[in-house]
Amino acid sequence: MATWDRKKEFVALDLGTANTIAYLGGQGIIYNEPSTMAYDTHTNTVIAAGEAAYDMVGKTNDDVRMVVPLVDGVIADMDAAKDLIKIIFSRIKLSDILKNALVVLACPSGVTELERTALKQVVFDMGARKVLVEEEVKLSAIGAGINISIASGHLVVDIGGGTTDIAIISAGDIILSRSIKTAGKHFDEEIRKYIRAEYNVLIGIKTAEKIKMEIGSLTKLDNGRTFRAYGRDVISGLPREVVISPDEVKNALLAPFSKITDLIVEVMENTPAELAGDIIRNGITICGGGTLIRGIDTYFESIFQLKVTKAQDALLTVIEGAKEYEKQVDKWLEVVELREAREYRIK
Ligand SMILES: Nc1ncnc2c1ncn2[C@@H]1O[C@H](COP(=O)(O)OP(=O)(O)OP(=O)(O)O)[C@@H](O)[C@H]1O
Ligand SMILES: [Mg+2]
Repeated sequence: MATWDRKKEFVALDLGTANTIAYLGGQGIIYNEPSTMAYDTHTNTVIAAGEAAYDMVGKTNDDVRMVVPLVDGVIADMDAAKDLIKIIFSRIKLSDILKNALVVLACPSGVTELERTALKQVVFDMGARKVLVEEEVKLSAIGAGINISIASGHLVVDIGGGTTDIAIISAGDIILSRSIKTAGKHFDEEIRKYIRAEYNVLIGIKTAEKIKMEIGSLTKLDNGRTFRAYGRDVISGLPREVVISPDEVKNALLAPFSKITDLIVEVMENTPAELAGDIIRNGITICGGGTLIRGIDTYFESIFQLKVTKAQDALLTVIEGAKEYEKQVDKWLEVVELREAREYRIK
């Protein structure tokens, strides 16, 4: 049976489309920054990563190429993904302890077997002893407080930056999962499109995200708050201010959210009958930064007539899951090794 020496280091890395978070056992979160990278276009070397690179978004010239390694839940730039992992590990000075470490990489479900192997290799090359790749939605479920080892079906919806992952989990396994490229960044895009269509003003993507965070809601907000956004008038070309209300944002958000609810319905329709009863009892668990939109629980409850439970810290659910995973690492190690052996035989 697989066992892991508990005196050895445990590291978890949540490689998200929007944010990358690293956790070190015994210490807690040691890195939490945007997954953005800035490259020198001419030399193709990294100029900045994380927060420093994110600050440059929309403000650079052609000499700088902004890259996000994961786009829409798949690895869009493998070299950048490798660079990001290397930068994080060197920044948090993990190279010394890595040789004894077990590293858990949380990946979106859309990442292919080939890409998983490549990512694993990067971490191995940096000296890690053991690397496990886990689906982020499974860790999210654990992080949201679900005991996934029990044979009881749970429906988990993780709305991140690039993808929404919907999964039915039972007895430690993902029974069924679907992913859609509609999540936080697409909500920003919808807000941007709405303002352009309604006011002929083009706002920046960061401004759109700010609007979403400050007045984004799926239910009516009665606090009278508005948002003053600055952008460029597409007709005159001059800078212009627009005042946006929460109702307008809500209308822009309803279209992408209906895509998400349609997919939840599809997952429910395909759920084995035995588990469907569990879902009715357990309700829906939601996590990921996209679920920080106000009124999302009431919105889902009114559509599905099911109880909706929000994870305590929507942006950190995967890492919370990794912490629990660490406590039972021997068990998971065995599960992963069995799974890998099975996959190997299938190949
Ligand atoms: N207060 C907020 N209100 C609404 N949205 C928010 C809020 N805070 C963060 N977000 C959104 O959450 C998203 C990032 O969430 P998260 O960190 O879970 O994504 P990720 O794990 O990097 O992405 P993915 O899981 O798709 O790879 C961003 O689109 C961000 O705009
Ligand atoms: Mg995520």
